[in-house]
Parts: sequence; C-alpha cells; structure tokens
Amino acid sequence: MQKTLVLIKPDGVQRGLMGEIIGRFERVGLKITALKMVHPSHEDVDKHYALTEEWMRAVYEKAKAKYEANKEPFPFADHIAYGTEIKRGLVEFLKSAPIVAMVLEGEQAVPLVRKIVGSTEPAGAAPGTIRGDFAHDSYPFSNSQNRPLRNLIHASGTEEEAKQEMAVWFTDAELYKYEHVNDRVQYDPEWFLS
Ligand code: PPS
Repeated sequence: MQKTLVLIKPDGVQRGLMGEIIGRFERVGLKITALKMVHPSHEDVDKHYALTEEWMRAVYEKAKAKYEANKEPFPFADHIAYGTEIKRGLVEFLKSAPIVAMVLEGEQAVPLVRKIVGSTEPAGAAPGTIRGDFAHDSYPFSNSQNRPLRNLIHASGTEEEAKQEMAVWFTDAELYKYEHVNDRVQYDPEWFLS
C-alpha cells in the first residue's frame, strides 16, 4: 500500500488546526501509521528540502506561472537565487516552532493527499481543500514580505520523495503496523462475500 509524508507546518499548529487537518485524512479512509509533534532542528529541515537545481527550477516556474496568470510581472530573474531564497525561508519557518509529522497509508495515498491538501498557493487553492478552506496567502503577498507561503501543510509529491522524507522524520521503529477497519472494509476483496 502506498505511503506518504505530511507535515503540519507551524502556522497549522499555531492556528489550532491539527485536529481538523488530521480528521480530513482519517475521514477519507487513510490509515495513520506514524504521528508526532517535533520542534525540528536546522539539519532536519535542511535534509527535508533537498536543494536540487530541478527543485529550484520547479519552484521558480510554478510561482512565475502564477504571477503571469494574474498579469503581474514576475520580479525574479534567476531560478537559483529564487529557489535558494525560498529554501532559506522554509528552513527558518519550519525550525521556528513545533510541527506535526505523520505518515499516511492507503491506495494512491500520494496523489490522494495532494488532492485533499490543494494547490501550493492558498489563494488559488480550491474550496474544499485544506489550503483552500483554511488559508488565503498568495505568492505576491508572501514574496513582498520576504517570507515563505503560510500554506499550513507539506505533502510529498511522489512515492520516491515520500520514502526520502519519511526517513528524515521517522525511524523504522516509529512506523507502526496495525489493523485498521479500512484494511477490511475498503481493501479486503473477501469482506462482503457471504
Ligand atoms: S507543493 O505544495 O509541494 O506542490 O509546492 P512546490 O511548488 O512543489 O514546492 C515549493 C515549495 O516551496 C514552498 N514555497 C514557495 N514556493 C515558491 N514561492 C514562494 N513564495 C514559496 N513559499 C513557500 C511551497 O510551499 C513548497 O513547499 P512545501 O513544504 O512542499 O509546501
């Protein structure tokens, strides 16, 4: 079964949204196999946001496309400078206060969780998603304040990323195996056979 890593960032913790956020993952039928509150070290966050040129280009292009869609000039010329600055801000943000880390398990858990979380920029996130329902920050506003988006959550983008990120936040002993009612009702092909 696929696993994914979710972090509730300091804004989610400090706004008292932990229960609401965890509840949204539980109610869709995902199984929580690891969960903890942690005040991260610099090293934890530095490892979590692996600074590759591919990551910097993706972060840059996504933000630029959003400005362009709003017919606003994108005031940054260089993906390396932009990506480096975004990572610096994210490291400062996440290590500033406690966060919640969790591992969620289920069929297609990675894309399912990303769908529930919504798009990166809360202002553009669809209603019904966590970011769309509980935040309204934007790229231009956060960039004008030289800080990262306050978008409540991080969720792994791929299964490969999930494996790397789970190893940053949890030891093998902290990843639990137990029987959940959904292992039967959602996934057991024999369950409804008489
Ligand atoms: S996401 O939500 O993971 O799809 O976001 P992605 O675009 O792939 O990764 C970008 C991460 O950088 C965070 N971030 C920003 N990007 C661009 N511009 C600004 N101003 C900015 N502020 C924060 C964004 O939230 C992603 O981090 P995570 O932790 O994945 O949300």
